[in-house]
Amino acid sequence: MLVNATEMLKKAKAEGYAVGQFNINNLEWTKAVLLTAEECKSPVILGVSEGAGKYMTGYTTVAAMVKAMIEELSITVPVALHLDHGSYEGAKKCIDAGFSSIMFDGSHYPIEENVAKTKELVELAHSLGISVEAEVGSIGGEEDGVIGKGEVADANECKMIADLGIDFLAAGIGNIHGKYPANWQGLDFEALEAIKNATEGMPLVLHGGTGIPADMIKKAISLGVAKINVNTECQLSFAAATREYIEAGKDQQGKGYDPRKLLLPGFEAIKATVKEKMELFGSVNKA
Ligand code: 13P
Repeated sequence: MLVNATEMLKKAKAEGYAVGQFNINNLEWTKAVLLTAEECKSPVILGVSEGAGKYMTGYTTVAAMVKAMIEELSITVPVALHLDHGSYEGAKKCIDAGFSSIMFDGSHYPIEENVAKTKELVELAHSLGISVEAEVGSIGGEEDGVIGKGEVADANECKMIADLGIDFLAAGIGNIHGKYPANWQGLDFEALEAIKNATEGMPLVLHGGTGIPADMIKKAISLGVAKINVNTECQLSFAAATREYIEAGKDQQGKGYDPRKLLLPGFEAIKATVKEKMELFGSVNKA
């Protein structure tokens, strides 16, 4: 069932767990995430970066594929189709294409401009029942061309953006897209607590979910995080499983080169990663 992400995240925040956003890249990825969510009876958010949207030939293709797949696979758990780190123009395109949720990442603008653009997009999205995520501070590293310095979000600025009626807020708290460096200082829980207090009931979003230790994930959830984004970890498990298949020469045995066989280990690896995350985030049996 395609829904916006508002209710599933309100429920997650109230009940003390988080819903995973898993970024998708192609048909296999989408199928793997949807089937795992159904098997785990977990709500799920499919994340689409602007780069991945372009790769899959455009947002209209993505929306049509996701809607058709939900129907053909008889997916009954709540699924949100969400633009990840969208630009102002990208957010408008996804609203037109039939996404059920958007993120407008105005974190690189001066706060006044971030406020003005977020406000406009909230009005437009809400008039169509689409949920909105906004960002304050920045997520370090790179997410498909979106580069952040990793500034920790200011709690007052978070309040300014939260007061615009957005549905959930991404706040930089020392989290990084991609692999964490060996000298990473960990999440800034003091900043998270200040943001939680300043934004009251707002579900918070933790980007850069790959490689964050389980105890930090659990603490973040206890401090108001209700959505956790994972991208790189599925890419790493897909790549490792595919490499193993080819290095074992399996693509050269029988019809092992058939894409349905060649991509199967990677597909299964994504499913295993998604299941592990849903268990860690506590969203299993919450659909
Ligand atoms: P990772 O690639 O580090 O898991 O981050 C995903 C993310 O935050 C998408 O917005």
